[in-house]
Amino acid sequence: MSHEAVEKNIGLLGVLAFLVITVAGLVQIVPLFFLKSTTTPVEGHKPYTALQLEGRDVYIREGCYTCHSQMIRPFRAETERYGHYSVAGEFVYDHPFQWGSKRTGPDLARVGGRYSDDWHRAHLINPRHVVPESNMPGFPWLDRNVIDHELTATKMERLRAVGVPYTDAEIAAAAGEVQGKTEMQALIAYLQGMGTAIQSRR
Ligand code: HEC
Repeated sequence: MSHEAVEKNIGLLGVLAFLVITVAGLVQIVPLFFLKSTTTPVEGHKPYTALQLEGRDVYIREGCYTCHSQMIRPFRAETERYGHYSVAGEFVYDHPFQWGSKRTGPDLARVGGRYSDDWHRAHLINPRHVVPESNMPGFPWLDRNVIDHELTATKMERLRAVGVPYTDAEIAAAAGEVQGKTEMQALIAYLQGMGTAIQSRR
């Protein structure tokens, strides 16, 4: 088969291009599922607690990811501002991950421990209470909404099916852990755990 035949036959070109992209894609992607550096959690990185997991769902529901990334790139300007760059081993329990790409607000990958719980609560009710120039919207209802604790155990079981090592005891205790907690409490628990396995800032 000559090169000319491929160039003059759009169908054949399409099929061959598809094959090249498929094989090359597999060669790049498949090893990531087996590489230690992408599948092993970094030391000290734990699965989300029941409360943090519910907080993460609030984060997704409220669309925080539309303004905040969770991915510090390995550039000086980023590490000076946010701390150690993100590594794959920090995301092994994230299904799906919340890396995002839009930064209307700052990256949140290492926001855990940066502010007090009270600061977060005031900020989430109305960001201008603590950051006067902020254009982040307020989320005051989070303080009134109570978590639906009946679903938490099921969520953890589903995550276990995709590899998050929750124990039976943790799943059994889940409902009790979140019962009566507000969405605000859950979201803050999630934020305070973010990126804390690697600490290089302050
Ligand atoms: C419309 C865009 C937008 C949305 C949506 C948004 N934020 Fe923000 N966020 C910002 C901006 C801008 C800032 C910087 C000003 C400030 O601190 O309020 C910020 C700051 C923050 C900070 C402080 C970060 C730091 O390092 O100082 C946290 C924490 C935060 N947002 C959490 C959240 C959470 C949680 C949600 C979802 C419930 C959310 N944001 C939704 C725009 C947004």
